[in-house]
This record gives sequence, C-alpha cells and structure tokens, in this order.
Amino acid sequence: MASQQELVECLASKGVLPVEWRDTVASVDRALFIPDVFEGGDFKADPDTWSRIVYSDAPVVTQVNDGEQTPDGAFRLSTSSSSMPSVMLEMLALLDVHDGHSVLEVGTGTGYNAAWLAHRLGDHKVFSVELDPAVVAVARENLRHAGLRPTVVVGNGHEGCPGGAPYSRIICTCTMREIPRAWLAQCPNGRIVTPWGSSFFSGSYATLDVVEGEARGSFSGYPGFMWDRTRRAGAGRVVDLYHGEEGRKGATDIEPQNVIQDDPAFFTSLSVTDAWYRWCEADDDSGEATLWFFADDRKSWATVEFVPGAETYEVEQYGPRALWDEVRNAFLGWHDLGKPERSRFGLSVDRDGQRVWLDDPCHVIGHP
Ligand SMILES: C[S@@+](CC[C@H](N)C(=O)[O-])C[C@H]1O[C@@H](n2cnc3c(N)ncnc32)[C@H](O)[C@@H]1O
Repeated sequence: MASQQELVECLASKGVLPVEWRDTVASVDRALFIPDVFEGGDFKADPDTWSRIVYSDAPVVTQVNDGEQTPDGAFRLSTSSSSMPSVMLEMLALLDVHDGHSVLEVGTGTGYNAAWLAHRLGDHKVFSVELDPAVVAVARENLRHAGLRPTVVVGNGHEGCPGGAPYSRIICTCTMREIPRAWLAQCPNGRIVTPWGSSFFSGSYATLDVVEGEARGSFSGYPGFMWDRTRRAGAGRVVDLYHGEEGRKGATDIEPQNVIQDDPAFFTSLSVTDAWYRWCEADDDSGEATLWFFADDRKSWATVEFVPGAETYEVEQYGPRALWDEVRNAFLGWHDLGKPERSRFGLSVDRDGQRVWLDDPCHVIGHP
C-alpha cells in the first residue's frame, strides 16, 4: 500500500514542493480526505489501486452531477474533488501565504486544502466556504479525523465569509466568471487567487492585489477547475447535444485549430462568454476533425470541418446565433491587435465591475 511519504517524494521529485509547505504536506494524510469509493477507485474492491491514486499527484473526483442520482450512461459532470496536489501548491505559491496570515478558501470540497492551510497557519486563521451542505458535512468530518478545526461554513462563495474578515488572502478553488465585490471588501489589503474565465476559455488563474478598493493583477497558468456551481458553462457529449438538425452552410479559410490555441481562445473568451467548443477527431486515421461550438443555452451550435491540406473549410451554423461568426470576429480582432499573448493582459476590479486590459490598465479591452 502506498503512503503519504510517496506523495511527498513524488511532489519533491517534480520540484513543486516548496520548503515552507513540506512539513504540512508530509503531516496531513490525504487518505483522510478521500472517500472509500470515488471515480476510478474503490477501497474495498482494490485497496492497492485506491491508495496508489490517493497518494499520487492526481485529482480525485469525489462527487459527480451534484451528488444526484442520474440514469446509467448519463453524462457525468465532476462537481467536487480533491484537487491535484501540485496544482494546490501552484495556487498556494501564487497566493504567497506567510505565517500569521488569515485565509478564506472558497470551495471547501474534501477539506484537504483547508487542512493544509490550517496546519500551516493555525485553525483560527482559516475559513472555508462551500455551497453544497452535503460536501461540507463530509469535509468537517474529514478535518476532525485529521485533528484540524478551521471554520467551514455552508454558503455561496460570492458572499465570501464575513465572519472571519478581514482576510490577508482569498483563494478560490472553483472557476469564477467575475470577482465578487464581497471579496474586495473582505480582503481589503491582500491578495486574491482564483481560476477565472468564461465558457469559451477558463484556463487562467487571476492573481489580484487589492489596494484602496481596487483589485488588479494578471493571468497565468492553465488550471482546469470545476465551475462555480451558480454560473456553470455548458457541458456534455456531442451525441447529447446534436440531434441531426441542418444548419446554414458556409466556408472559411481560417484553419479551425488556430482559433482554439490558448492566446486567441483567451481573447475570444472575453467577448464570447457563453459558448464552448470541442475538437473531435475522426476515428478513421484520415486526420480530419470537426470543431464544434455550442451555446451554453443549447439553442445554437456551429461546426467547422478540418481536412488536412484543404484551403477552405466547411462551416455549418444552427440556431439564433451564428457562433462561428462570433468566434471568427473575435479571432480577427485578436489579429488586429498584433496577436498578443495572454501574459500581456490584466484584470482590474472595483465597485464598477471588472475590466480586462492590454498592457496598461487604461487600455481596456472588455468587461467580461
Ligand atoms: C475543486 S473542488 C474544491 C477542492 C477543495 N479545495 C479540496 O481541497 O478538496 C470545487 C468545490 O467548489 C465548490 N463550489 C462551487 N461553486 C461554489 C460556490 N459558488 N460557492 C462555494 N463553493 C462552491 C464545489 O461544490 C466543489 O466542492
């Protein structure tokens, strides 16, 4: 059976375990936060595989479909988890936690991250808020077994947790579309780190420092967190979303892969906030693929057919929106700006809302 020491060694060998977190990671047993049965693991049926996964640098999905019973074969949306330990450390590095800090975590999940924070900073310095009461009940129990007692409350993370404010740091472990105003008020001179984005591209951390009522910062990383449950993106399998409708036909000379590369996808996500894509390769070794776009409300879709070596690609668009046209226009707008990398963009948030800017906070690009 694997042990916590193996997780420590795995993280150390990857070079992602900073000295200030080493004692905490070694001391807090991840197994205490993982249920006997999870997606891909069953302790009773196969304890070796269960412990190998638990003590590896892998995320463990602990809840799907909000814990609701769904028919066999239904799409399984991951809705709670213990995050990948190296990703937890990556976020904590961005958070720049120091001894003496008080921290609010949004998205308690299993309680493992709250346990790390409580071990390092002390129980009374750590608050964690989680929307799902059933998840909170299990997290509290997990923490009790680990001998740690941070304050865990049921609530919508948008409200923060006024009871423990002011905080030196806020860390959010679900993807947010907007930085809630309550966080600025509750972390008035500190730092906020959260996965951030819209349906089209949500693979960015926003790291924001709050000064005099304004949070300002940059984007980095490629996190793949679950959505804020109150504002999810669309999801599902193509077979569940497409039922043989005929769309409006057209063509494009833009190679479809180009629009879903990280930098243009990030830029497109600032205006196309409520649609998402899926790249589906043909299973016949032809190299052909279909790029699907779906609106979150499922009323519109579009496809672009990629054929290797072709100069133009067939387009089909269905529903009240012309999703390909929206994506193409954003992509061309990104070209007009000189194809800036994501690292040149920044985010500012104040009581008027959030603004994304390019190079300089005065050069506002959008209000996603
Ligand atoms: C990736 S899991 C959190 C992992 C967790 N930090 C850990 O260490 O195990 C994301 C969690 O965020 C929670 N969540 C989603 N939307 C939320 C919201 N609006 N307010 C509070 N929690 C939310 C989910 O229920 C889920 O448990």
